[in-house]
Amino acid sequence: MFDAYERELWDGRADAYERGFARVTRHTIGPLLDAAGVVAGARVLDVGTGPGFVAAEAAERGARVAAVDAEPGMARVAARNAPGAAVRVAVLPELPFPDGAFDAVVGNFVINHVGDPVRALRELRRVLAPSGTLALTCWAMPGTGVLAMVRDALDAAGVPWPDDVPDPPFLQHGTPPAFRALLEQVGFSADVTELDWDHVVDPREWWTDGALARVGANGVVVGRLDDAALARVKTEYDRLAARHATADGNIALPAHALLARATPLSARVAAEGPVTSDA
Ligand SMILES: C[S@@+](CC[C@H](N)C(=O)[O-])C[C@H]1O[C@@H](n2cnc3c(N)ncnc32)[C@H](O)[C@@H]1O
Repeated sequence: MFDAYERELWDGRADAYERGFARVTRHTIGPLLDAAGVVAGARVLDVGTGPGFVAAEAAERGARVAAVDAEPGMARVAARNAPGAAVRVAVLPELPFPDGAFDAVVGNFVINHVGDPVRALRELRRVLAPSGTLALTCWAMPGTGVLAMVRDALDAAGVPWPDDVPDPPFLQHGTPPAFRALLEQVGFSADVTELDWDHVVDPREWWTDGALARVGANGVVVGRLDDAALARVKTEYDRLAARHATADGNIALPAHALLARATPLSARVAAEGPVTSDA
């Protein structure tokens, strides 16, 4: 049910996402690849590659890169942006790769888009070599700053959140302890750290590329508004944007994400639980 909603959400949105929100998510690519230990010669899988910027940077590091996305339009854009990667369409929780095929598996803001995070993580563990590393980013939840700006404007304008736009199943896992516990549940040893930065952008551009472009759940809701409601939301957006104004006329929107680094526990340790020092 949530996965069907997600397919509809991303259908035809590749160019808009590339122009807008991908400029926010690019910030975490370096830390993500570093966490996964992506170096020359490593076999790397980028899941939910979107416009392919993670895959492109991994290929620039000299890694042997495969990349997948559920949305064919995204896969096409990724193939253009990451010519050094083998890009194909594939949908978590089922990946078309043999067991243990990759030294590193990375996913930039993807785990918060899957319908069944446990099944997705099990599949990522399956395709990872026993000595490999998984690195994933997600938004800290509930969303604040750059993620919440349009939602806050909708709320302030009195636009009710539609019943048919669901919360992601990952919502309950979007804190460091909860994300770590989820990874441990599927047989990883994991660390989760927080990443904070400012997304600096022209407020008019962000209204066009971040709200009107119909990307993500906020974009879906904005896309349904009539002219009068849209004008009310824009007034609230301008009021909220003014709080983040910089001296040069841009806005600096705080972004708050989580970065998980996880390594598979051996099958025995995963089944019996980790050995503690006082055991
Ligand atoms: C927020 S975008 C992130 C894109 C990219 N990784 C980045 O760094 O900006 C989420 C992407 O995950 C893809 N996606 C969502 N659910 C997926 C699934 N179950 N399997 C594979 N890809 C999925 C979407 O099509 C979209 O391209």
